[in-house]
Amino acid sequence: MQVLRTVAELRRWSRALRAASGNTIGLVPTMGALHAGHASLIRAARAGCTHVAVSLFVNPTQFGPHEDFARYPRVFEADCAVAWAEGADVLFAPAVEELYPNSADSTLVEVPVLSQRLDGQSRPGHFRGVATVVTKLFIAAEPDRAYFGQKDAAQVAVLRRMTADLRLATEIVVCPIVRDADGLALSSRNAYLTPSQRTQALILSRAVRHVESLVAQGERRASVLLASAHGVFAAEPEVRIDSIALVDWATLEPVETAVPGTLFAVAARVGSTRLIDNAILS
Ligand code: PAF
Repeated sequence: MQVLRTVAELRRWSRALRAASGNTIGLVPTMGALHAGHASLIRAARAGCTHVAVSLFVNPTQFGPHEDFARYPRVFEADCAVAWAEGADVLFAPAVEELYPNSADSTLVEVPVLSQRLDGQSRPGHFRGVATVVTKLFIAAEPDRAYFGQKDAAQVAVLRRMTADLRLATEIVVCPIVRDADGLALSSRNAYLTPSQRTQALILSRAVRHVESLVAQGERRASVLLASAHGVFAAEPEVRIDSIALVDWATLEPVETAVPGTLFAVAARVGSTRLIDNAILS
C-alpha cells in the first residue's frame, strides 16, 4: 500500500486506474483514529470496488472554535496498520495546506437547510466543513463509490443531498453502525471517556433500542416515542441530552408519525464528549 500526500498524486493514481476498463474506485473518507467501524467501511469498499483509497485527514473546517480539533486522536502508524490489514490500496494523508491552500478565504460548499438540522443545530458550520472537504476528496479521487457509516446519519443526509444537487458521479454507500458488545456505537471520540463515563454512555444505545422495541410493538406516534426516549435518559442524570429527534432521513425534518425509514437520532454529552447514536426504523 502506498501513502499519498498530494491531490496531484491521488488524481494520478485514480486516473491511471480509470484508463483501464473494468476498474472501479472506492473511497473511504475518515479523520483517522480508525476503529472496527472504519474497518467495516474499508471491507465494504473492498467488496464493492476493484481498488480502494482511504483518506486520513482531521478536517479543521468541520470543528467549531471550542471543539476538539487540537486533541482529536492522531495515530498515523496504527491507522496505516488497520487500512493495510483491511486491504486498502492507497492511503491519502494530506497536510492541511494541501486541501486548504488559501485558508483565509477558502471556497466552501454549503447545503443550506439540511446543514442546520440535527447535529447542525448544536454545531454551526460543521456540515459546511464536511461538505467542503468531501467535495475536495471527490474531485481529487473521482471515486465510483464512497463509504460512510450510518452512525453519522445527518452527515449522510447532507452528503446525499450534496451529491444530488451537484450531480456528482459518486454513489454514496451507507454501512451499518458497528457496536461494542455492550451496545455502545463505535466512535473515535469514545477514547475520551473515563471508565465511568463509558458506562453512562450506554444510555444512548439503550434509548435507541427502547424506541426500536416500541415501534416493533406497533407504537408510531412521535410524541410518545420521543417522550419515552427522554424517560430512558432519566436513569443517567449526568448525561446531558443535546437532541432526541424523529425525522425524515432525507430532509431531516421532524415527523409526527414514524414510518419505515424514519430516522430516530440521539445526541448527548457525557462529560465534555458529545456522542451520537441512531436507528433507521423498520
Ligand atoms: O465522518 C467523518 O469521519 C468525517 O466527517 C469525514 C466524512 C471524513 C469528513 O471529514
